[in-house]
Amino acid sequence: MAQSTRDDQEGANAAGKWLPVTDLTPQQAGDEIADLAKRVAQANEQYHGGDSPRISDAEYDRLKRRLSQLEDAFPALALPDSPTGKIGAAPVEGFGKVTHAQRMMSLANAFDPQDVRDFVARIRSFLNLAPGAPLDFTAEPKIDGLSLSLRYQDGQLVQAATRGDGSVGENVTANARTVPDIPHRLNGDAPGIVEIRGEVYMSHPDFARLNAGDTGRVFANPRNAAAGSLRQLDPSVTAARPLKFFAYGWGELTRPLAETQMGAVEQLAVLGFRTNPLMRLCHDADGLIAAWTRIEQQRATLGYDIDGVVYKVNDLGYQSRLGFRSTTPRWALAHKFPAETAWTRLDRIEIQVGRTGALSPVARLEPVTVGGVVVSNATLHNEDYIAGRDHTGAPIREGRDIREGDWVMVYRAGDVIPKIADVDLSRRPCDSRRYAFPTSCPECGSDAIREPGDSVRRCTGGLICPAQAIEKLKHFVGRAAFDIDGLGARQIEMFFADDILPIREPADIFTLARRDANNIARLKNRDGFGERSVEKLFAAIEERRRIDLKRLLFALGIRHVGEVASATLARHFGSWDALVAAVDGAAQEPAFTAEDDKARKAALADSPNWAELTGIDGIGAVLVLSLVTSFQQPAERAGIDRLVTQLDIQPDRSPAANHTEISGKTLVFTGTLERMTRAEAKARAEAMGAKVAGSVSARTDLLVAGAGAGSKASKATELGVRVIDEDEWLRIAAQ
Ligand code: IVH
Repeated sequence: MAQSTRDDQEGANAAGKWLPVTDLTPQQAGDEIADLAKRVAQANEQYHGGDSPRISDAEYDRLKRRLSQLEDAFPALALPDSPTGKIGAAPVEGFGKVTHAQRMMSLANAFDPQDVRDFVARIRSFLNLAPGAPLDFTAEPKIDGLSLSLRYQDGQLVQAATRGDGSVGENVTANARTVPDIPHRLNGDAPGIVEIRGEVYMSHPDFARLNAGDTGRVFANPRNAAAGSLRQLDPSVTAARPLKFFAYGWGELTRPLAETQMGAVEQLAVLGFRTNPLMRLCHDADGLIAAWTRIEQQRATLGYDIDGVVYKVNDLGYQSRLGFRSTTPRWALAHKFPAETAWTRLDRIEIQVGRTGALSPVARLEPVTVGGVVVSNATLHNEDYIAGRDHTGAPIREGRDIREGDWVMVYRAGDVIPKIADVDLSRRPCDSRRYAFPTSCPECGSDAIREPGDSVRRCTGGLICPAQAIEKLKHFVGRAAFDIDGLGARQIEMFFADDILPIREPADIFTLARRDANNIARLKNRDGFGERSVEKLFAAIEERRRIDLKRLLFALGIRHVGEVASATLARHFGSWDALVAAVDGAAQEPAFTAEDDKARKAALADSPNWAELTGIDGIGAVLVLSLVTSFQQPAERAGIDRLVTQLDIQPDRSPAANHTEISGKTLVFTGTLERMTRAEAKARAEAMGAKVAGSVSARTDLLVAGAGAGSKASKATELGVRVIDEDEWLRIAAQ
């Protein structure tokens, strides 16, 4: 009987027959809130975590709307962790945070043999290897699990941490101890401190047994099952889950494990870890591609998921010379297997307006399973992609356009957003029409234009476009930006629409409490708020007045200025004032007003601020142009200035990797270096904490002049800049 009652209720919900909110007793509302919160949270987790969502998008929206209405009507019953205000699955609370002694990096991807040949050629050129000089690589499966860093002190496991954002992960030590492949004590003569890195995963048979068992949930794929199992607050739950671990790398070490990647991985096995038996040594790009093919052929029979093959330079001395880009090593590459695909019908094309005004077309699909995950949305990139052209105007999909009602091939590779690869013209409805991409913003009606050379059409409404303003605000309060407790996407939408106490721009957040105090209708008396929750919100905002420079920069949501670039700029300039001085300075220089890239390059010598900005590793001309332009736009600048007066900006104190003779100095290289390539010299200088600029100015500290140095050397002498030769540079670089 109980079963049939539940079914009836669900049937009624699905048909839209909820009782009016005003008719509910608090008891009924509380029960319904709990039930809805659970279902929405589950769907969120399934969607963002990759498990198979069991409900359609429309149903999801309906559940969420109803939950929001109930929370508004019965604020006291709203759950503290209600899913209405959040985007994506929040990190599990309850695990402590761990700052990795050495960052956990990700890998650059390759998708075809040419990418692999380019990788090998790039490394040979970076290292300046003579043709024929040997350069070996290892090739090993890329395990589709989650990475884990295990710290051993005097041979004892003292800490296990997930990757997190690469710098800070979650402390899962108690759970890791329950995994049989993870030794509590290392064998033999281990270094005093050793961090072992590898992948936690679940085998296919174990995954099938787990899903058939009584955990009360079904996981979409082994990776989600492994992630869900490791991130359990109760280690006894993890212990009951069949997790496995392959070791493939290391972080901090008090002494090297070996001289080669292969030798080091052999040492990992000696210490007591399982290592992958398919790892092979290869001597060139063809060898790597052959290893990839062999491993791909074995993929179906391995008994665990892999999503590609990882190549690593074998010589650890070369690895350290090659070093890292901002998030990936130069000495490794993940060569992915082709993506999984499925056919389904495209119901509708919708346009979303992002914070930079980009009109992004999204395909709403009949839900379909692709590689174990139910997909009902896919990106369509931009209008050219829909029309069957690339950004140069050349045909893609042999020129086939994509229309509403078409049958389309969906694919997803790894974690990326599903995409549409192709369309089946034989199933195209005869009354279908070409999709007309809007030329005005669907949100504010302003013209939506395409700049020459840009593949994206953008709303010109700027901050008058509510979609842009809201998306900018949501970005501003996002996790990597201001991350204000109690001020998530949902609250932003509410305050944005509020006439009494509006938040229309970031500065408004910091005047909220003061404005509220001056209002007759106080926030604490409103539905959905209470004295305590308002106090908490204001306190959380207050706490964020003190903000790190890099977070502030990222939070501004300037096009091309992402998390990594923000951190790089913050590290380079140290303070807000220094950054603004450089950006404002650059706006006055000929490079800013230059017509095109060529003219901009030519104007560099007369544009010291511009040269400084573009000389920073990882900061290109496109980014600088966007940054300088944003700061020049009066409305945007006024908004930034209003915000900044509200804040206490913390200077960036990220220590340079280690203190060296050139830390914090600005270097310029010129002429030909004979014993080190320019790329290696630049990477080395930056790893030693120096900035490398492209041209000599009064701010240059040191000019390294190789053979045949010309005008830069004379300019340096004129300016009194110290000039050194290659020998002297090699002495510094060897430190
Ligand atoms: S090496 C500094 N080797 O792939 C290089 N990673 O896309 C660090 N992964 O976060 C990674 N199998 O979780 C490496 N044999 C393998 C791997 C592997 C799987 C994962 C790892 C990493 C991700 C990068």
